[in-house]
Amino acid sequence: MADFTDKTVIVTGGGKGIGRAICLAFAAAGAHVLCADVDDPAGQAVVGAAAPGQVVYQHADVATSPACQGLVDQAVELWGGLDILINNVGIQPMKDYLPAHELPEESWDRIINVNLKSGFLMTKYAAPVMKQGGGGVIINTASVQGLQSAKGIAAYAASKGGMLSLTRQLALEYAADNIRVLAVNPGTIETPLAAAGSGNDYEALRRDGAKAHPIGRIGKPEEIASVVLFLASDGASFMTGEFVNVDGGLMAKGAWAE
Ligand SMILES: NC(=O)c1ccc[n+]([C@@H]2O[C@H](COP(=O)([O-])OP(=O)(O)OC[C@H]3O[C@@H](n4cnc5c(N)ncnc54)[C@H](O)[C@@H]3O)[C@@H](O)[C@H]2O)c1
Repeated sequence: MADFTDKTVIVTGGGKGIGRAICLAFAAAGAHVLCADVDDPAGQAVVGAAAPGQVVYQHADVATSPACQGLVDQAVELWGGLDILINNVGIQPMKDYLPAHELPEESWDRIINVNLKSGFLMTKYAAPVMKQGGGGVIINTASVQGLQSAKGIAAYAASKGGMLSLTRQLALEYAADNIRVLAVNPGTIETPLAAAGSGNDYEALRRDGAKAHPIGRIGKPEEIASVVLFLASDGASFMTGEFVNVDGGLMAKGAWAE
């Protein structure tokens, strides 16, 4: 595993699921991690699961500009700069699994603001700090839903497609500043978000998800975190503007696949 000793990292939606695994993986690799979430008990639990002092939790609704600016300011204040930004947050509330014509406009706005606008806002405040520090890495958690789609998730799908496009755009914007921008597209991963889609029945999630993924099972949050750490490391120093599918072969399937 790459060494991130004394690197500073912000992870949005770091309290549970994939974000939690990313926080703990960076902390185990020596980084200072600022975990941002709206679920305070979950965020505090991440602090408790890491070695003392490695993770700081901050309540922050990253759909809002002041919260995003506050996170970057906090990282600078605590650790003197920002090396790595993980725009991981994402929502798809159960009540909003609806065809587009039934989706309330407020639901569209909230999903887009949390999933996509937060990536813009965090970058808006992080990029100047990274430039000043000589560079950095931004990694966006998009989704296989940004490449292919399903019924009932118009705003989520649009947000993830937008995240992949934003990844390419930001990579060009900041390449000369030594800031690399990348995305990961998870397949189905065993998290509270995915389990909610199966009525919080993790057994059903694992069983049904296994059928869809060629590798025969769904993924674990740690299997996304390990790829994120590689992309943030110097081992990926010639990668920018690209996404990586971490999906057990899901996106390799053609229309005729069994
Ligand atoms: N789990 C999957 O199968 C899967 C698949 C593809 C992509 N993804 C993406 O991975 C990312 C993480 O998903 P997950 O499954 O770990 O989700 P999760 O719901 O398990 O965890 C997301 C965390 O984000 C927090 N959060 C929600 N709204 C927030 C806000 N406004 N500000 C700050 N924090 C907020 C939640 O409290 C939660 O702790 C998301 O972007 C999701 O779309 C997940």
